Amino acid sequence: DKLAVVIPAAGVGSRMQAQMPKQYIPLLGKPILVHTLEKLAGLECVSQFMVAVSKEDGYFSSALLPDSRFSHCEGGQERADSVLLALKALAPSRPDWVLVHDAARPLVALDDIHQLISQCINQQQGGILAAKVKDTIKRGAELVQETVPRASLWQAFTPQMFRYEELLAALEFGLSQGANITDEASAMELQNQPVQLIAARTDNIKITTPEDLPLAEFIIQQQGK
Ligand code: CTP
Ligand code: MG
Repeated sequence: DKLAVVIPAAGVGSRMQAQMPKQYIPLLGKPILVHTLEKLAGLECVSQFMVAVSKEDGYFSSALLPDSRFSHCEGGQERADSVLLALKALAPSRPDWVLVHDAARPLVALDDIHQLISQCINQQQGGILAAKVKDTIKRGAELVQETVPRASLWQAFTPQMFRYEELLAALEFGLSQGANITDEASAMELQNQPVQLIAARTDNIKITTPEDLPLAEFIIQQQGK
């Protein structure tokens, strides 16, 4: 089976409140995007990588791409638009499967990605890295309305892996319906397609707010030991 990877990297990082888009903030001296791409380059079973970059991006350079399997395309307004544009850019190479991985998740473990790939191929079903929720979860605004039973709740991470043609169709449908699609699985769910939950390490954080930066540097240092 032919595998491709899409890396949405076209966001502005508004919650980070930095001068530059968060994917270019350095961790231990190296931009977050480069950490992510170098990690993914360790996947020898992947033949092509497509990075979605904003057309307003003044920081991107092809010199940031680790090897000749990587290319880039223009991103879109929302994350789902960026992923769809990258899938379309991969069309000429007709991959069987695609993994989508956030540029903002440089800490993902290759072991977890290999687990996801083998589960999806063995079961012939898409899947996502995820973790059971640890905290007690409340619904509410200023006051608590209720406590949501936690037993069946999962946090969805990336990568998320689906058959290329099915994900393309699901995203096109979801976006045409104006649905709120914050990950690939949510588009597949709208089509009543099964999505496997693959339990993963919880240090695969999405770098989102300033307090994530020192935490991410600490995790990188621990992983290097
Ligand atoms: N992303 C993208 N295209 C967009 C929006 C987001 O490719 N139009 C990417 C981001 O670059 C990031 C990933 O999707 O790697 C996950 O999105 P998120 O963490 O929300 O990043 P931002 O949208 O940049 O951050 P914020 O929501 O705080 O503005
Ligand atoms: Mg966002």
